[in-house]
Amino acid sequence: MSYKVFGVQKLATDITRMVVHAPEVARHARAGQFLVIMSDEKAERIPLTIVGSDFSSGAVTVIFQEIGSSTRRLGMKEAGASLFAVLGPLGRPTDARKIGTVVCVAGGVGLAEILPVMRVFKGAGNRVIGLLGCRTKDLLILEEEIRQACEEVRVATNDGSLGTRGLVTSLLEEFLKEEACGLVYAVGPVPMMRAVCEVTRPLKIRTTVSLNPVMVDATGMCGVCRCRVAGKTVFGCVDGPEFDGHQVDFDELSQRLSFFRKEEELSAKALERTP
Ligand code: FAD
Ligand code: FES
Ligand code: MG
Repeated sequence: MSYKVFGVQKLATDITRMVVHAPEVARHARAGQFLVIMSDEKAERIPLTIVGSDFSSGAVTVIFQEIGSSTRRLGMKEAGASLFAVLGPLGRPTDARKIGTVVCVAGGVGLAEILPVMRVFKGAGNRVIGLLGCRTKDLLILEEEIRQACEEVRVATNDGSLGTRGLVTSLLEEFLKEEACGLVYAVGPVPMMRAVCEVTRPLKIRTTVSLNPVMVDATGMCGVCRCRVAGKTVFGCVDGPEFDGHQVDFDELSQRLSFFRKEEELSAKALERTP
């Protein structure tokens, strides 16, 4: 099976949209699910959210941030190249029922991950509000697509170059003073999702988060993606990636992610020392 790259587009510095031929994934994909890409036979497995899929052409769209060696290697593929493997769809789809008002909060590359979620909640008849956070205005990706999926969009940038200066959680606090909502859905960096949950917890607003633990096989076999939710061990890849944010043990998740980063740094240093 050849997973041909149909198209590649830079959306911002280090953020790339890639459309790949993966008909089996496209046939079954639903919002909230992800896939795993191996760019070459010996490459790492990269879990990425399925941002779009087209049944008739068999194309799936992913948007990724070139953050480390594997995503950078993937970003070097051009239209017409082939990927070694595209596995999926994986994870549970979003439970998108009619709730009323759904506030979708996204930060960083989470803007790409939340787009299919916004679309499916809108399709279910909800009033969808988008609250978007970026470091600076040039990192605001998919603005047009997001505006089409939402009734209203508000933006916060850390440097104040667009919208409100500050964090996306201040947009959430502000919105919740103005209006009631049935669900808050958050995706982005762990500290952001945790902060969103701290805003909604005292208000008792149901909050879903899409977690991003390190994954290896992504099929429930290796246990690397384990998290604690409601005091129980769950696997992000098969039980998630979406969970009740108020039940997630964010301390443990952050600790496991920082452990991975330390391991990465140590192996990079060891490689530097190798003659
Ligand atoms: P590395 O230098 O190896 O790592 C950089 C950071 O990426 C690490 O600190 C760690 O936090 C994370 N990471 C590394 N390896 C993995 C791994 N095997 N699994 C999960 N996280 C890892 N990123 C996007 O840009 N767009 C997406 O749509 C997207 N969707 C995701 C959906 C899920 C369900 C998960 C679990 C992760 C998703 N990610 C997404 C994160 C993406 O998988 C990582 O950025 C990528 O694997 C980093 O690989 P690297 O070798 O380039 O970076
Ligand atoms: Fe191995 Fe989830 S990634 S069990
Ligand atoms: Mg890596």
